[in-house]
Amino acid sequence: MAGTDPWNGTDRLDEATLDVMVARLEARGKNAAFVGMLDDYLDAMEIDGAASVLDLGCGTGLVSRRICARPDFAGTCHGIDLSDYLVRAARRYAADEGAGERTRFEVGDTHSLNLAEASYDAVIAHTLFSHLDDPGAVLGEMARVVRPGGRIVVYDGDYASLTFEEADPEQSRQNSDRVIEALVTQPRVLRQMLRIAKRHGLVLDRMFSYVLTEAGRADFWVSAVEGLRVLGPRSGVMTEAEANAWADAQLAASEEGVFFGSSNYYTYLFRPA
Ligand SMILES: C[S@@+](CC[C@H](N)C(=O)[O-])C[C@H]1O[C@@H](n2cnc3c(N)ncnc32)[C@H](O)[C@@H]1O
Repeated sequence: MAGTDPWNGTDRLDEATLDVMVARLEARGKNAAFVGMLDDYLDAMEIDGAASVLDLGCGTGLVSRRICARPDFAGTCHGIDLSDYLVRAARRYAADEGAGERTRFEVGDTHSLNLAEASYDAVIAHTLFSHLDDPGAVLGEMARVVRPGGRIVVYDGDYASLTFEEADPEQSRQNSDRVIEALVTQPRVLRQMLRIAKRHGLVLDRMFSYVLTEAGRADFWVSAVEGLRVLGPRSGVMTEAEANAWADAQLAASEEGVFFGSSNYYTYLFRPA
């Protein structure tokens, strides 16, 4: 069955589903491997020198909060997200962490930004592109609003590589494909980034690649597995019973120390030509 990635339509979701998303975003934001990938590109783009940062598809504001917590960062972060519920969560988390004064979170669609051109030193899309209808349009907007000499980052999972293993390899392949279909709109977009960037006059500065594999016990992948109980049926790709059976099997594998879950993650750091 054809699926609808819930992350692609967060402006149309009920609060129970959005709470599951908040839990996933905040849980992975505490994972050392995930935060390490974020810090790698913040260092590489010399974010501490930026006065104005745009955080697209900001969700609960994880990236903006991480930037504001850097001792040498003295600028401000502006987050934009499709979901009013997630934007309100981002404001609360930022206020709780003392970043309320230096962050601004607003509802918007990144395909068409109501922002002046050349107005940000740094523009970041952190796990947004895989959920977009038109990644080219969004990269075009990023190229438009970044100032000359500024930096653009696109970071995401290369979700065509996402895989979870079960006892039966063939069932594993089928279920991994269904999980990708349930959670992602553009599973191969991170392989297309240089072609898209070329069309928008962006030049590649750095590229980082990672494999986030957990074998034995799951940690990073636990909240993804738990989230699928709700997001899987919400996508239309699987029933609640199927999603729960799959999640139960994954968590049991983790308990037994035989879990295997993995995805590649890539960062592209661009600058305007
Ligand atoms: C996987 S979450 C990432 C959130 C955050 N960047 C993080 O990494 O914690 C993807 C986010 O993109 C938002 N989103 C999806 N499509 C969007 C669009 N067209 N415009 C703005 N936000 C969008 C979703 O609401 C969601 O918060």
